[in-house]
Amino acid sequence: MKLSHLLSFATSTVAATISTRSNPYDSSETPNFGYEELYKLQTDFYNRFQYPNNIKEAESINSTVFSEDVQGRVSDTRNFVGRELNTEYIFGLFTPSDSLTIIGRPVGPYEIIQFAANQNIASATTRINFIFPSFGNISLPITVDTWMTWNAARQVTQYDVTFRWFGYLLKTLLLSVDKDPVKAQAIATTSIAKSICSTHTKYCNGTNTQYESPEECYGFLTKEIRVGESFELGMDTLLCRNVHEIMVKFRPDVHCSHIGKTGGGQCDDTISYQEKVEEQYFTNSPWKPTKY
Ligand SMILES: *[C@@H]1O[C@H](CO)[C@@H](O)[C@H](O)[C@H]1NC(C)=O
Ligand SMILES: *[C@@H]1O[C@H](CO)[C@@H](O)[C@H](O)[C@H]1NC(C)=O
Ligand SMILES: *[C@@H]1O[C@H](CO)[C@@H](O)[C@H](O)[C@H]1NC(C)=O
Repeated sequence: MKLSHLLSFATSTVAATISTRSNPYDSSETPNFGYEELYKLQTDFYNRFQYPNNIKEAESINSTVFSEDVQGRVSDTRNFVGRELNTEYIFGLFTPSDSLTIIGRPVGPYEIIQFAANQNIASATTRINFIFPSFGNISLPITVDTWMTWNAARQVTQYDVTFRWFGYLLKTLLLSVDKDPVKAQAIATTSIAKSICSTHTKYCNGTNTQYESPEECYGFLTKEIRVGESFELGMDTLLCRNVHEIMVKFRPDVHCSHIGKTGGGQCDDTISYQEKVEEQYFTNSPWKPTKY
């Protein structure tokens, strides 16, 4: 880092501290970090996101990367509110699992290739290398577009994430199973449904039971719902339940319903395209700078 950068970093840190001293943990106050500090916060986030660092964050249950009231939105899935759920969804989801899954492992390296930041807001495009253990350990880069805001305690209060070319990624994964897309889809459907049902058998007992038997589970997943397109990971699909399957082991009482018939408010067809687009979701911090 150049000296001038160091100085502006120091100044912005002091400014952030002073402007929020009255109540440093009040996320309703918008801190003014400046570009260098925001770049550092963005980098810190991705360092923790990388495997195996993400294991430590997941084990903390309530990662202090996030504010308690963090609001997250991920393209093609749903919205995720609160620290515990986001610790599971952002860190736990990408740790090694016994499930057969479309979710990969961010082994790195990663590179932030586009970055603009102002006040407490950063927009980044980041290319991250993943391996996909359920697809013969195929290694593929993923480009992720993020908008994030931080509070004065340097915790993420909001994130809005888009996986670029996600449909193309899914297709590439699928074709790694078999060159024939019809065959590939049949193999993947069978394997994913079996995996979800075995997770259900292992973790979803008692009041968390969703299916009466593995056969009922398999029949439902393979015949009564669709596999799902790339934008349907928050809809009434097999792929949606495959994403949530990984989180079942963290809190069966919260996540079992997501792999069940109703989808537990995460995997259903209740949100129209129009609602998705016009939704007013974020309330923790403005997405446009108020000071320059
Ligand atoms: C995580 O935070 C939630 C919400 O504040 C709380 O109910 C839960 O007990 C916390 N879990 C742990 C292990 O600290
Ligand atoms: C994938 O890599 C892991 C080690 O990271 C290894 O244990 C596993 O057998 C590999 N799977 C395949 C299908 O190559
Ligand atoms: C499920 O089984 C585990 C261990 O067998 C038990 O600790 C847990 O209480 C059961 N859950 C329910 C909801 O019955």
